[in-house]
Amino acid sequence: MDSQHSSPEIGVGMVGYAFMGQAHSHAWRSVASAFDLPMRPVMAALGGREQAALQQAAGRLGWAATETDWRALIARPDVALVDICTPGSSHAEIAIAALEAGKHVLCEKPLANTVEEAEAMAAAATAAARRGVRSMVGFSYRRAPALAFARRLITEGRLGTLRHVRTQYLQDWIVDPEFPLVWRLKREHAGSGALGDLGAHIVDLAQFLVGEPLSGVAALTETFVRERPLPAASAGLAAAADGAAARGPVTVDDAALFLGRFPGGAVASFEATRVASGRKNALRIEINGDQGSLAFDMERMNELEFHDHTEPAATAGFRRILVTEPDHPYLEGWWPPGHGLGYDHTFVHQMRDLIHAIGEDRDPEPSFADGLRVQRVLAAVEDSAANGSAWTPVVHTGVAPGGPQPPSRTDTPVTVAP
Ligand SMILES: NC(=O)c1ccc[n+]([C@@H]2O[C@H](COP(=O)([O-])OP(=O)(O)OC[C@H]3O[C@@H](n4cnc5c(N)ncnc54)[C@H](O)[C@@H]3O)[C@@H](O)[C@H]2O)c1
Repeated sequence: MDSQHSSPEIGVGMVGYAFMGQAHSHAWRSVASAFDLPMRPVMAALGGREQAALQQAAGRLGWAATETDWRALIARPDVALVDICTPGSSHAEIAIAALEAGKHVLCEKPLANTVEEAEAMAAAATAAARRGVRSMVGFSYRRAPALAFARRLITEGRLGTLRHVRTQYLQDWIVDPEFPLVWRLKREHAGSGALGDLGAHIVDLAQFLVGEPLSGVAALTETFVRERPLPAASAGLAAAADGAAARGPVTVDDAALFLGRFPGGAVASFEATRVASGRKNALRIEINGDQGSLAFDMERMNELEFHDHTEPAATAGFRRILVTEPDHPYLEGWWPPGHGLGYDHTFVHQMRDLIHAIGEDRDPEPSFADGLRVQRVLAAVEDSAANGSAWTPVVHTGVAPGGPQPPSRTDTPVTVAP
């Protein structure tokens, strides 16, 4: 702890204080107690729109000051890092202003609501990086120890040549047609529905685990409930209708399904939905290579299934690895083997990695360029779905250096029967 106290401080200003605001606040409070850091984060100021609610949240979450205008938050001399926990419609404006003001940025996913916004953000991040200003997008599931360990196994070649990536992200919080029309169900706030909310995570994870960006997709999307009651109040995934009869149109997808190709030859399937009754946060991914396979389910996040196909067939098979050993990613900061981590720890790990990158003067991952690569896939999914599920190449142009390389070949456009 002495080294923590003598390390320099970095002031954090956070905008938004509901679901992600709470998760990030917890992580900012905890990270220096779990990990050795080059700088100690100080929770300088919380940004929001309504003073009374903001004040109450700041007290509960542990922020020293409040600002009702995010521009004032960015301008504060005690804020060196801006953490954006608002809906996607405000990400570009806040992030670009912060980067131009010389403040490091952590921005929640999806990076933006459109490719154009994401391109502007990636360009601002590249320009800022030349001045030593860092940026990261919050694809927090990369920081689940089992998934970080999965990436290590793939990088070490334990799966051999990758053939299949099979992934789903299933939730059920809008099964009820009377669930109100919250911001996540409106295109102007969220950009898209299950696609940008959940699909963005599994696209990023697939690209992270495989180590290259998707080169094309064929997709369909569906909105099962097209009108919903107007909300009285909402935060995170919880909401209540206002009791009046007024309803409004749902302008995003409830579910998105798509196929994809990786330039290295692997093929992939994706399913993102918020109406899979009984599935709460089932982010699942299975990857098959010619020497082995692995499988993960976020509802059992401390476990990774691994099959080594080079073992004798008589005894080979999937085995369950409990990813809680000191040698597993991020476990050096936590409990004895078998004691288990939760959803909240992924955010603590995210802050750990960001602070290390800033302290060591290097770009963190996932970068805004990674966020743009995801955004291009989301846009291609929507284009394909609007065009009878036609094969739609994803062109990764104008991406800043440092991440996965662009596809080495262009897929021949083919039409998939709708
Ligand atoms: N990494 C993850 O696993 C994960 C999980 C959930 C949400 N998210 C992302 O986090 C972001 C926020 O989602 P959430 O679930 O926290 O939403 P939420 O509705 O719970 O909270 C949004 C917060 O932003 C505030 N806000 C909205 N517009 C604002 C504006 N213009 N200026 C200032 N404050 C504003 C609201 O008052 C609220 O405090 C979204 O981009 C979402 O996709 C990420």
